[in-house]
Amino acid sequence: MSLPGRFITFEGIDGAGKTTHIDALEQAWRQQGRDVVRTREPGGTALAEKLRELVLHDSMDPLTEALLVFSARRDHLQQVIRPALTRGAWVLCDRFTDATFAYQGAGRGFELAVLRQLETWVQEGLQPDLTLLFDLPPAVAASRLQAARQPDRFEALDAAFFERVRAGYLDRRSSQPDRFCVIQADASPHQVAEQVRTAIAERGFA
Ligand code: TYD
Repeated sequence: MSLPGRFITFEGIDGAGKTTHIDALEQAWRQQGRDVVRTREPGGTALAEKLRELVLHDSMDPLTEALLVFSARRDHLQQVIRPALTRGAWVLCDRFTDATFAYQGAGRGFELAVLRQLETWVQEGLQPDLTLLFDLPPAVAASRLQAARQPDRFEALDAAFFERVRAGYLDRRSSQPDRFCVIQADASPHQVAEQVRTAIAERGFA
């Protein structure tokens, strides 16, 4: 069942720089008068934002982490994403289920089969129309993270963790190549913005 709106997600390891480009796209589309819903995961509803706080700051075992992330996602889908897509909006979402496969799956080593089962239950077939994967070496991403900022539970993890997360994202892309567009994020902001514009235009979303 295809909904009238369009669902675009943005992914990448911490420090990949995706936020700047989501901001630019949101602003450009709002200026065109489009119905844009800008949101993020974990989060996007009052309940899901509370779950985000727990996931980012409290210690827990990998299954608890995966269940909380999917609980937040379920509420977000029911309250925000599905209604927006049903009325024909453009939904720009900073991270979605690919992040769970990359961080909880590849990064933490949690069973992918369980994540696939949760994905099926929670999403009931709904997938993004397009996913922009901001790919770059973890060392470059780490150097971009603000030194002054207090790292959350994920940002504090080591380079080997982010190598696994990066590989996890690329595996997801290999399994669903039509949905993904890989952005070479180890480039100037101008060049990255150009890649984003091209990817959006190629899908006919510009
Ligand atoms: P992020 O999106 O980078 O937000 P900010 O820019 O405010 O730091 O942070 C969210 C973190 O949550 C990020 O480290 C990845 C992690 N995460 C998961 O581990 N699993 C998930 O399913 C999602 C959506 C995010």
